Order: sequence, then structure tokens, then C-alpha cells
Amino acid sequence: MLNPLAQELNNVLKNTTPGELLSDLGLRIFFPKGIIAQGGEAKKFGKVANATIGTTLTGGKPAILEAVHKYAPELSAGELVSYMPTAGNPELRTLWKDLIYKKNPGLKGKSISMPVVVPGLTAGISYLADLFLDEDKPLLSPNPSWDNYALIVETRRNSQFHTFNLFSDDGFDLDSFKKAVEKEAETGFVRLLLNFPQNPSGYSPTNAEAAQIVKIIRDIAEKGAKVLIWDDDAYFGLNYENDIYPQSLFAEFADLHENVLAVKIDGPTKEDFVWGFRTGFLTFGGKGLTEEHYAALEKKLMGLIRSSVSCSSTPSQSLALRAFSDPALENQKKDFRKLLEERYTEVKKFVTSHTSKNLEALPFNSGYFMSFHTKVDAEQLRQKILHEKQIGTVAIDSETLRVAFSSIEKEQVETVYKAIYDCADNM
Ligand SMILES: Cc1ncc(COP(=O)(O)O)c(C=O)c1O
Repeated sequence: MLNPLAQELNNVLKNTTPGELLSDLGLRIFFPKGIIAQGGEAKKFGKVANATIGTTLTGGKPAILEAVHKYAPELSAGELVSYMPTAGNPELRTLWKDLIYKKNPGLKGKSISMPVVVPGLTAGISYLADLFLDEDKPLLSPNPSWDNYALIVETRRNSQFHTFNLFSDDGFDLDSFKKAVEKEAETGFVRLLLNFPQNPSGYSPTNAEAAQIVKIIRDIAEKGAKVLIWDDDAYFGLNYENDIYPQSLFAEFADLHENVLAVKIDGPTKEDFVWGFRTGFLTFGGKGLTEEHYAALEKKLMGLIRSSVSCSSTPSQSLALRAFSDPALENQKKDFRKLLEERYTEVKKFVTSHTSKNLEALPFNSGYFMSFHTKVDAEQLRQKILHEKQIGTVAIDSETLRVAFSSIEKEQVETVYKAIYDCADNM
């Protein structure tokens, strides 16, 4: 039996692309008119007293221990220890939405939802899996991909993780992508995850490839398939070559066709160098969707958040809000990006001037990583590099070795890569 509140949301989404893409859990979930909703009403109308929320108030403010407050004295008690609303700090959400438009000029004039705050991009991906995947609703993603996708999709959601080949000899494998999308579309639905700059390859599509990717999706949507696209933009802005498509593909998909629903997964984790903050955002965009549709999707997300972590961390959101309003932020980010770019350039120099019988660098032009296609077992190679050279790398699968150049100093690049090549050639 569906809860009447879930039914209400499903009615709003009836005959829309998001409505048709929902999973079993997506159909069931709703945001209860419980403590949080009643607390929200009390905030507005409970002028004499607000006896709703389980916090400790003194003088109308959250109580805060001096032993806590003294370590972040510039932040108020409210910014540190109060609960945030389920969908996040409203000011931060508004600011992030403005930033999305600023960073993606192609979105101008296109309507998107309010970003919902989630505790990190991983949680955002997991919530999308809750909302749109189940046993017979698979997700399509490139091979190789970030390993956490398969854990969420297959193990956690008992769904299926379908893949296409990420690279051909010329870069992004458009042919494999097109075939895989068309195969999914035979069911009437395509659920697709794209992540650029990519983990583990460090690749982003060129302008020409991006145009082809968009065309393939437009064509399949025009033929009637309902298409869901997740844009994992974790490494947004870390582009090191000129011909890379400079925006999130979300800017294209957000109003591509009535049959396409796009979701942007992003946040300050890598963009603003705050990995442990556990702050991310989910933002929807779909041609023809109204504010009412977006609000229904937001309510469903709020149900998922309320039923798992209740709400995201307050200090992280408060710090992010303050930092995003700080005029010094952009220049400081530029300095860090430059650092990463210098490491990239050094790695590029090494791999283009060295050859190995057992290693082939996969295309890379952005982000934190690069990967090798290995002709020997990648796990055995990893072990050899670790134990003989005391250098850590990651075996993504039996033929892919990932190197996070983001975390090695420019001066270490030569040593690290020489060790990797030596080990590979001695196998
Ligand atoms: C592609 C991709 N998406 C998402 C994430 C996770 O981001 P967060 O730390 O905000 O959960 C990562 C982190 O490694 C990643 O590589």
C-alpha cells in the first residue's frame, strides 16, 4: 500500500519522464508530515514557544559547549551545532545554483531545480540509485568506471551495471557508446551515468566528441526512449587541454528533449578542495518540467535523506557558504589548480617520451588521474610496484592500473613513473 503522500507526489509526476523512470523505492518514498515538517511550521507560527525539535536552546539559540566553540570562534552556535533543513541550508542552495549557472553559461535561460544538499557526491549517487534503479532497471556506464558505482548499483541496489567501452583508438568510443545506448533503449528506457573529468582515466570529451554524445542521446530520445542521465561532475573545472568541452554536459541535457531527465551530481569535494566536508548537491533539469515537478522530486529526495542520514553536516555547509562568499576564494583555487596542472604536464611529458612493452597510457587530459592499460595482470603489477619500489597505485581491474598524479609532488613524478615502467617491463 502506497502512503497517500507518496501517491500525491506520484500523481504530480504522472506522465512525465521522471515519473516513468522511478524505481519501486522511488515510487514508495515520500517526505512525511512528521517532526521535521511540523517543526518547520512551528518555526513560522510558534511565536510563544517552539517545543518541536530535539535540540537544546538557551536564550533562543542552540546551546554550544565552550570546548567546541573555541575551535571555530568566528562561526555562530547556529552555524556549528544546529540541525540543517533536510534539503540543506537554503542560502547555500541558492548560492550553489547561481554558481552552476555561472560555471555553465550554456544553461542560460534553462530551468533547473534547486540543488538539494547531500552528504557528499557518493551519497548523491546512492540516492539516485534508490530513486531510479532496481532489479530490472539497470545503469549504463563506461568501462572502466569509478569502482564505487558498481558497488552501489549491483551490491547495494541489486540492479545491473551495464557498460560500454570508454576508449577506441581515437579517443572516446562513440561507436560502442551508441550501440550500448541503442541496446538499452530496446527496453524503452536508458539510464546512463557519465563522469567527466573521468575517474579512473582522467579523460574529458573534446568539443567534437561532446557534440556527438549529445546527438546520440537526442536521436534516441526522439525515437521515444525515456532517458535518464546522471552527470557526475566531481572533478569539474580541472581541464588541462584547450579542445575539451568546457562545461558540464548537464548544460546540454537539461533541456535536450521532453524524454530526457538530467541530474547533476556535484559539490565542493574536489572543486573546492574540501574532501572530508561531505557536502554535495543533486540538481535536476528536464525540458518541460515545471516547478511543481521539481518540488515533487525534491520531496522524494528529502524522504531518502530523512530516512538515511536525516540531514547533512552543519559546520561543513556553514564553512562552504562563507568560503563561497569570500572574494579571495577564486584566486586560491587557481593556485591549487595550477599545481595539479603542473603535475599533469610532467606526467604527460614522461608517458609521451617513454615506451613499455606492457603498458599503454589511456587517453587523459583532465582531473586527478591517469590510467594504464596493462598487458600483464594489473594487480600483480601493483603488488610489484608496492613491494619493490614502495609506491602505491590502484589496480582497477585485471588490465587497468590507476595513478593519482593529483597526490604526488611534481618532483616525484619522474621517480614514480620510472618505477612503474621498470616494474612493468620486468614482468
Ligand atoms: C567520479 C567520482 N564521483 C564521486 C566521488 C565522491 O565524491 P565525495 O567524496 O563527495 O563522495 C569521487 C571520489 O573519489 C569520484 O571519483
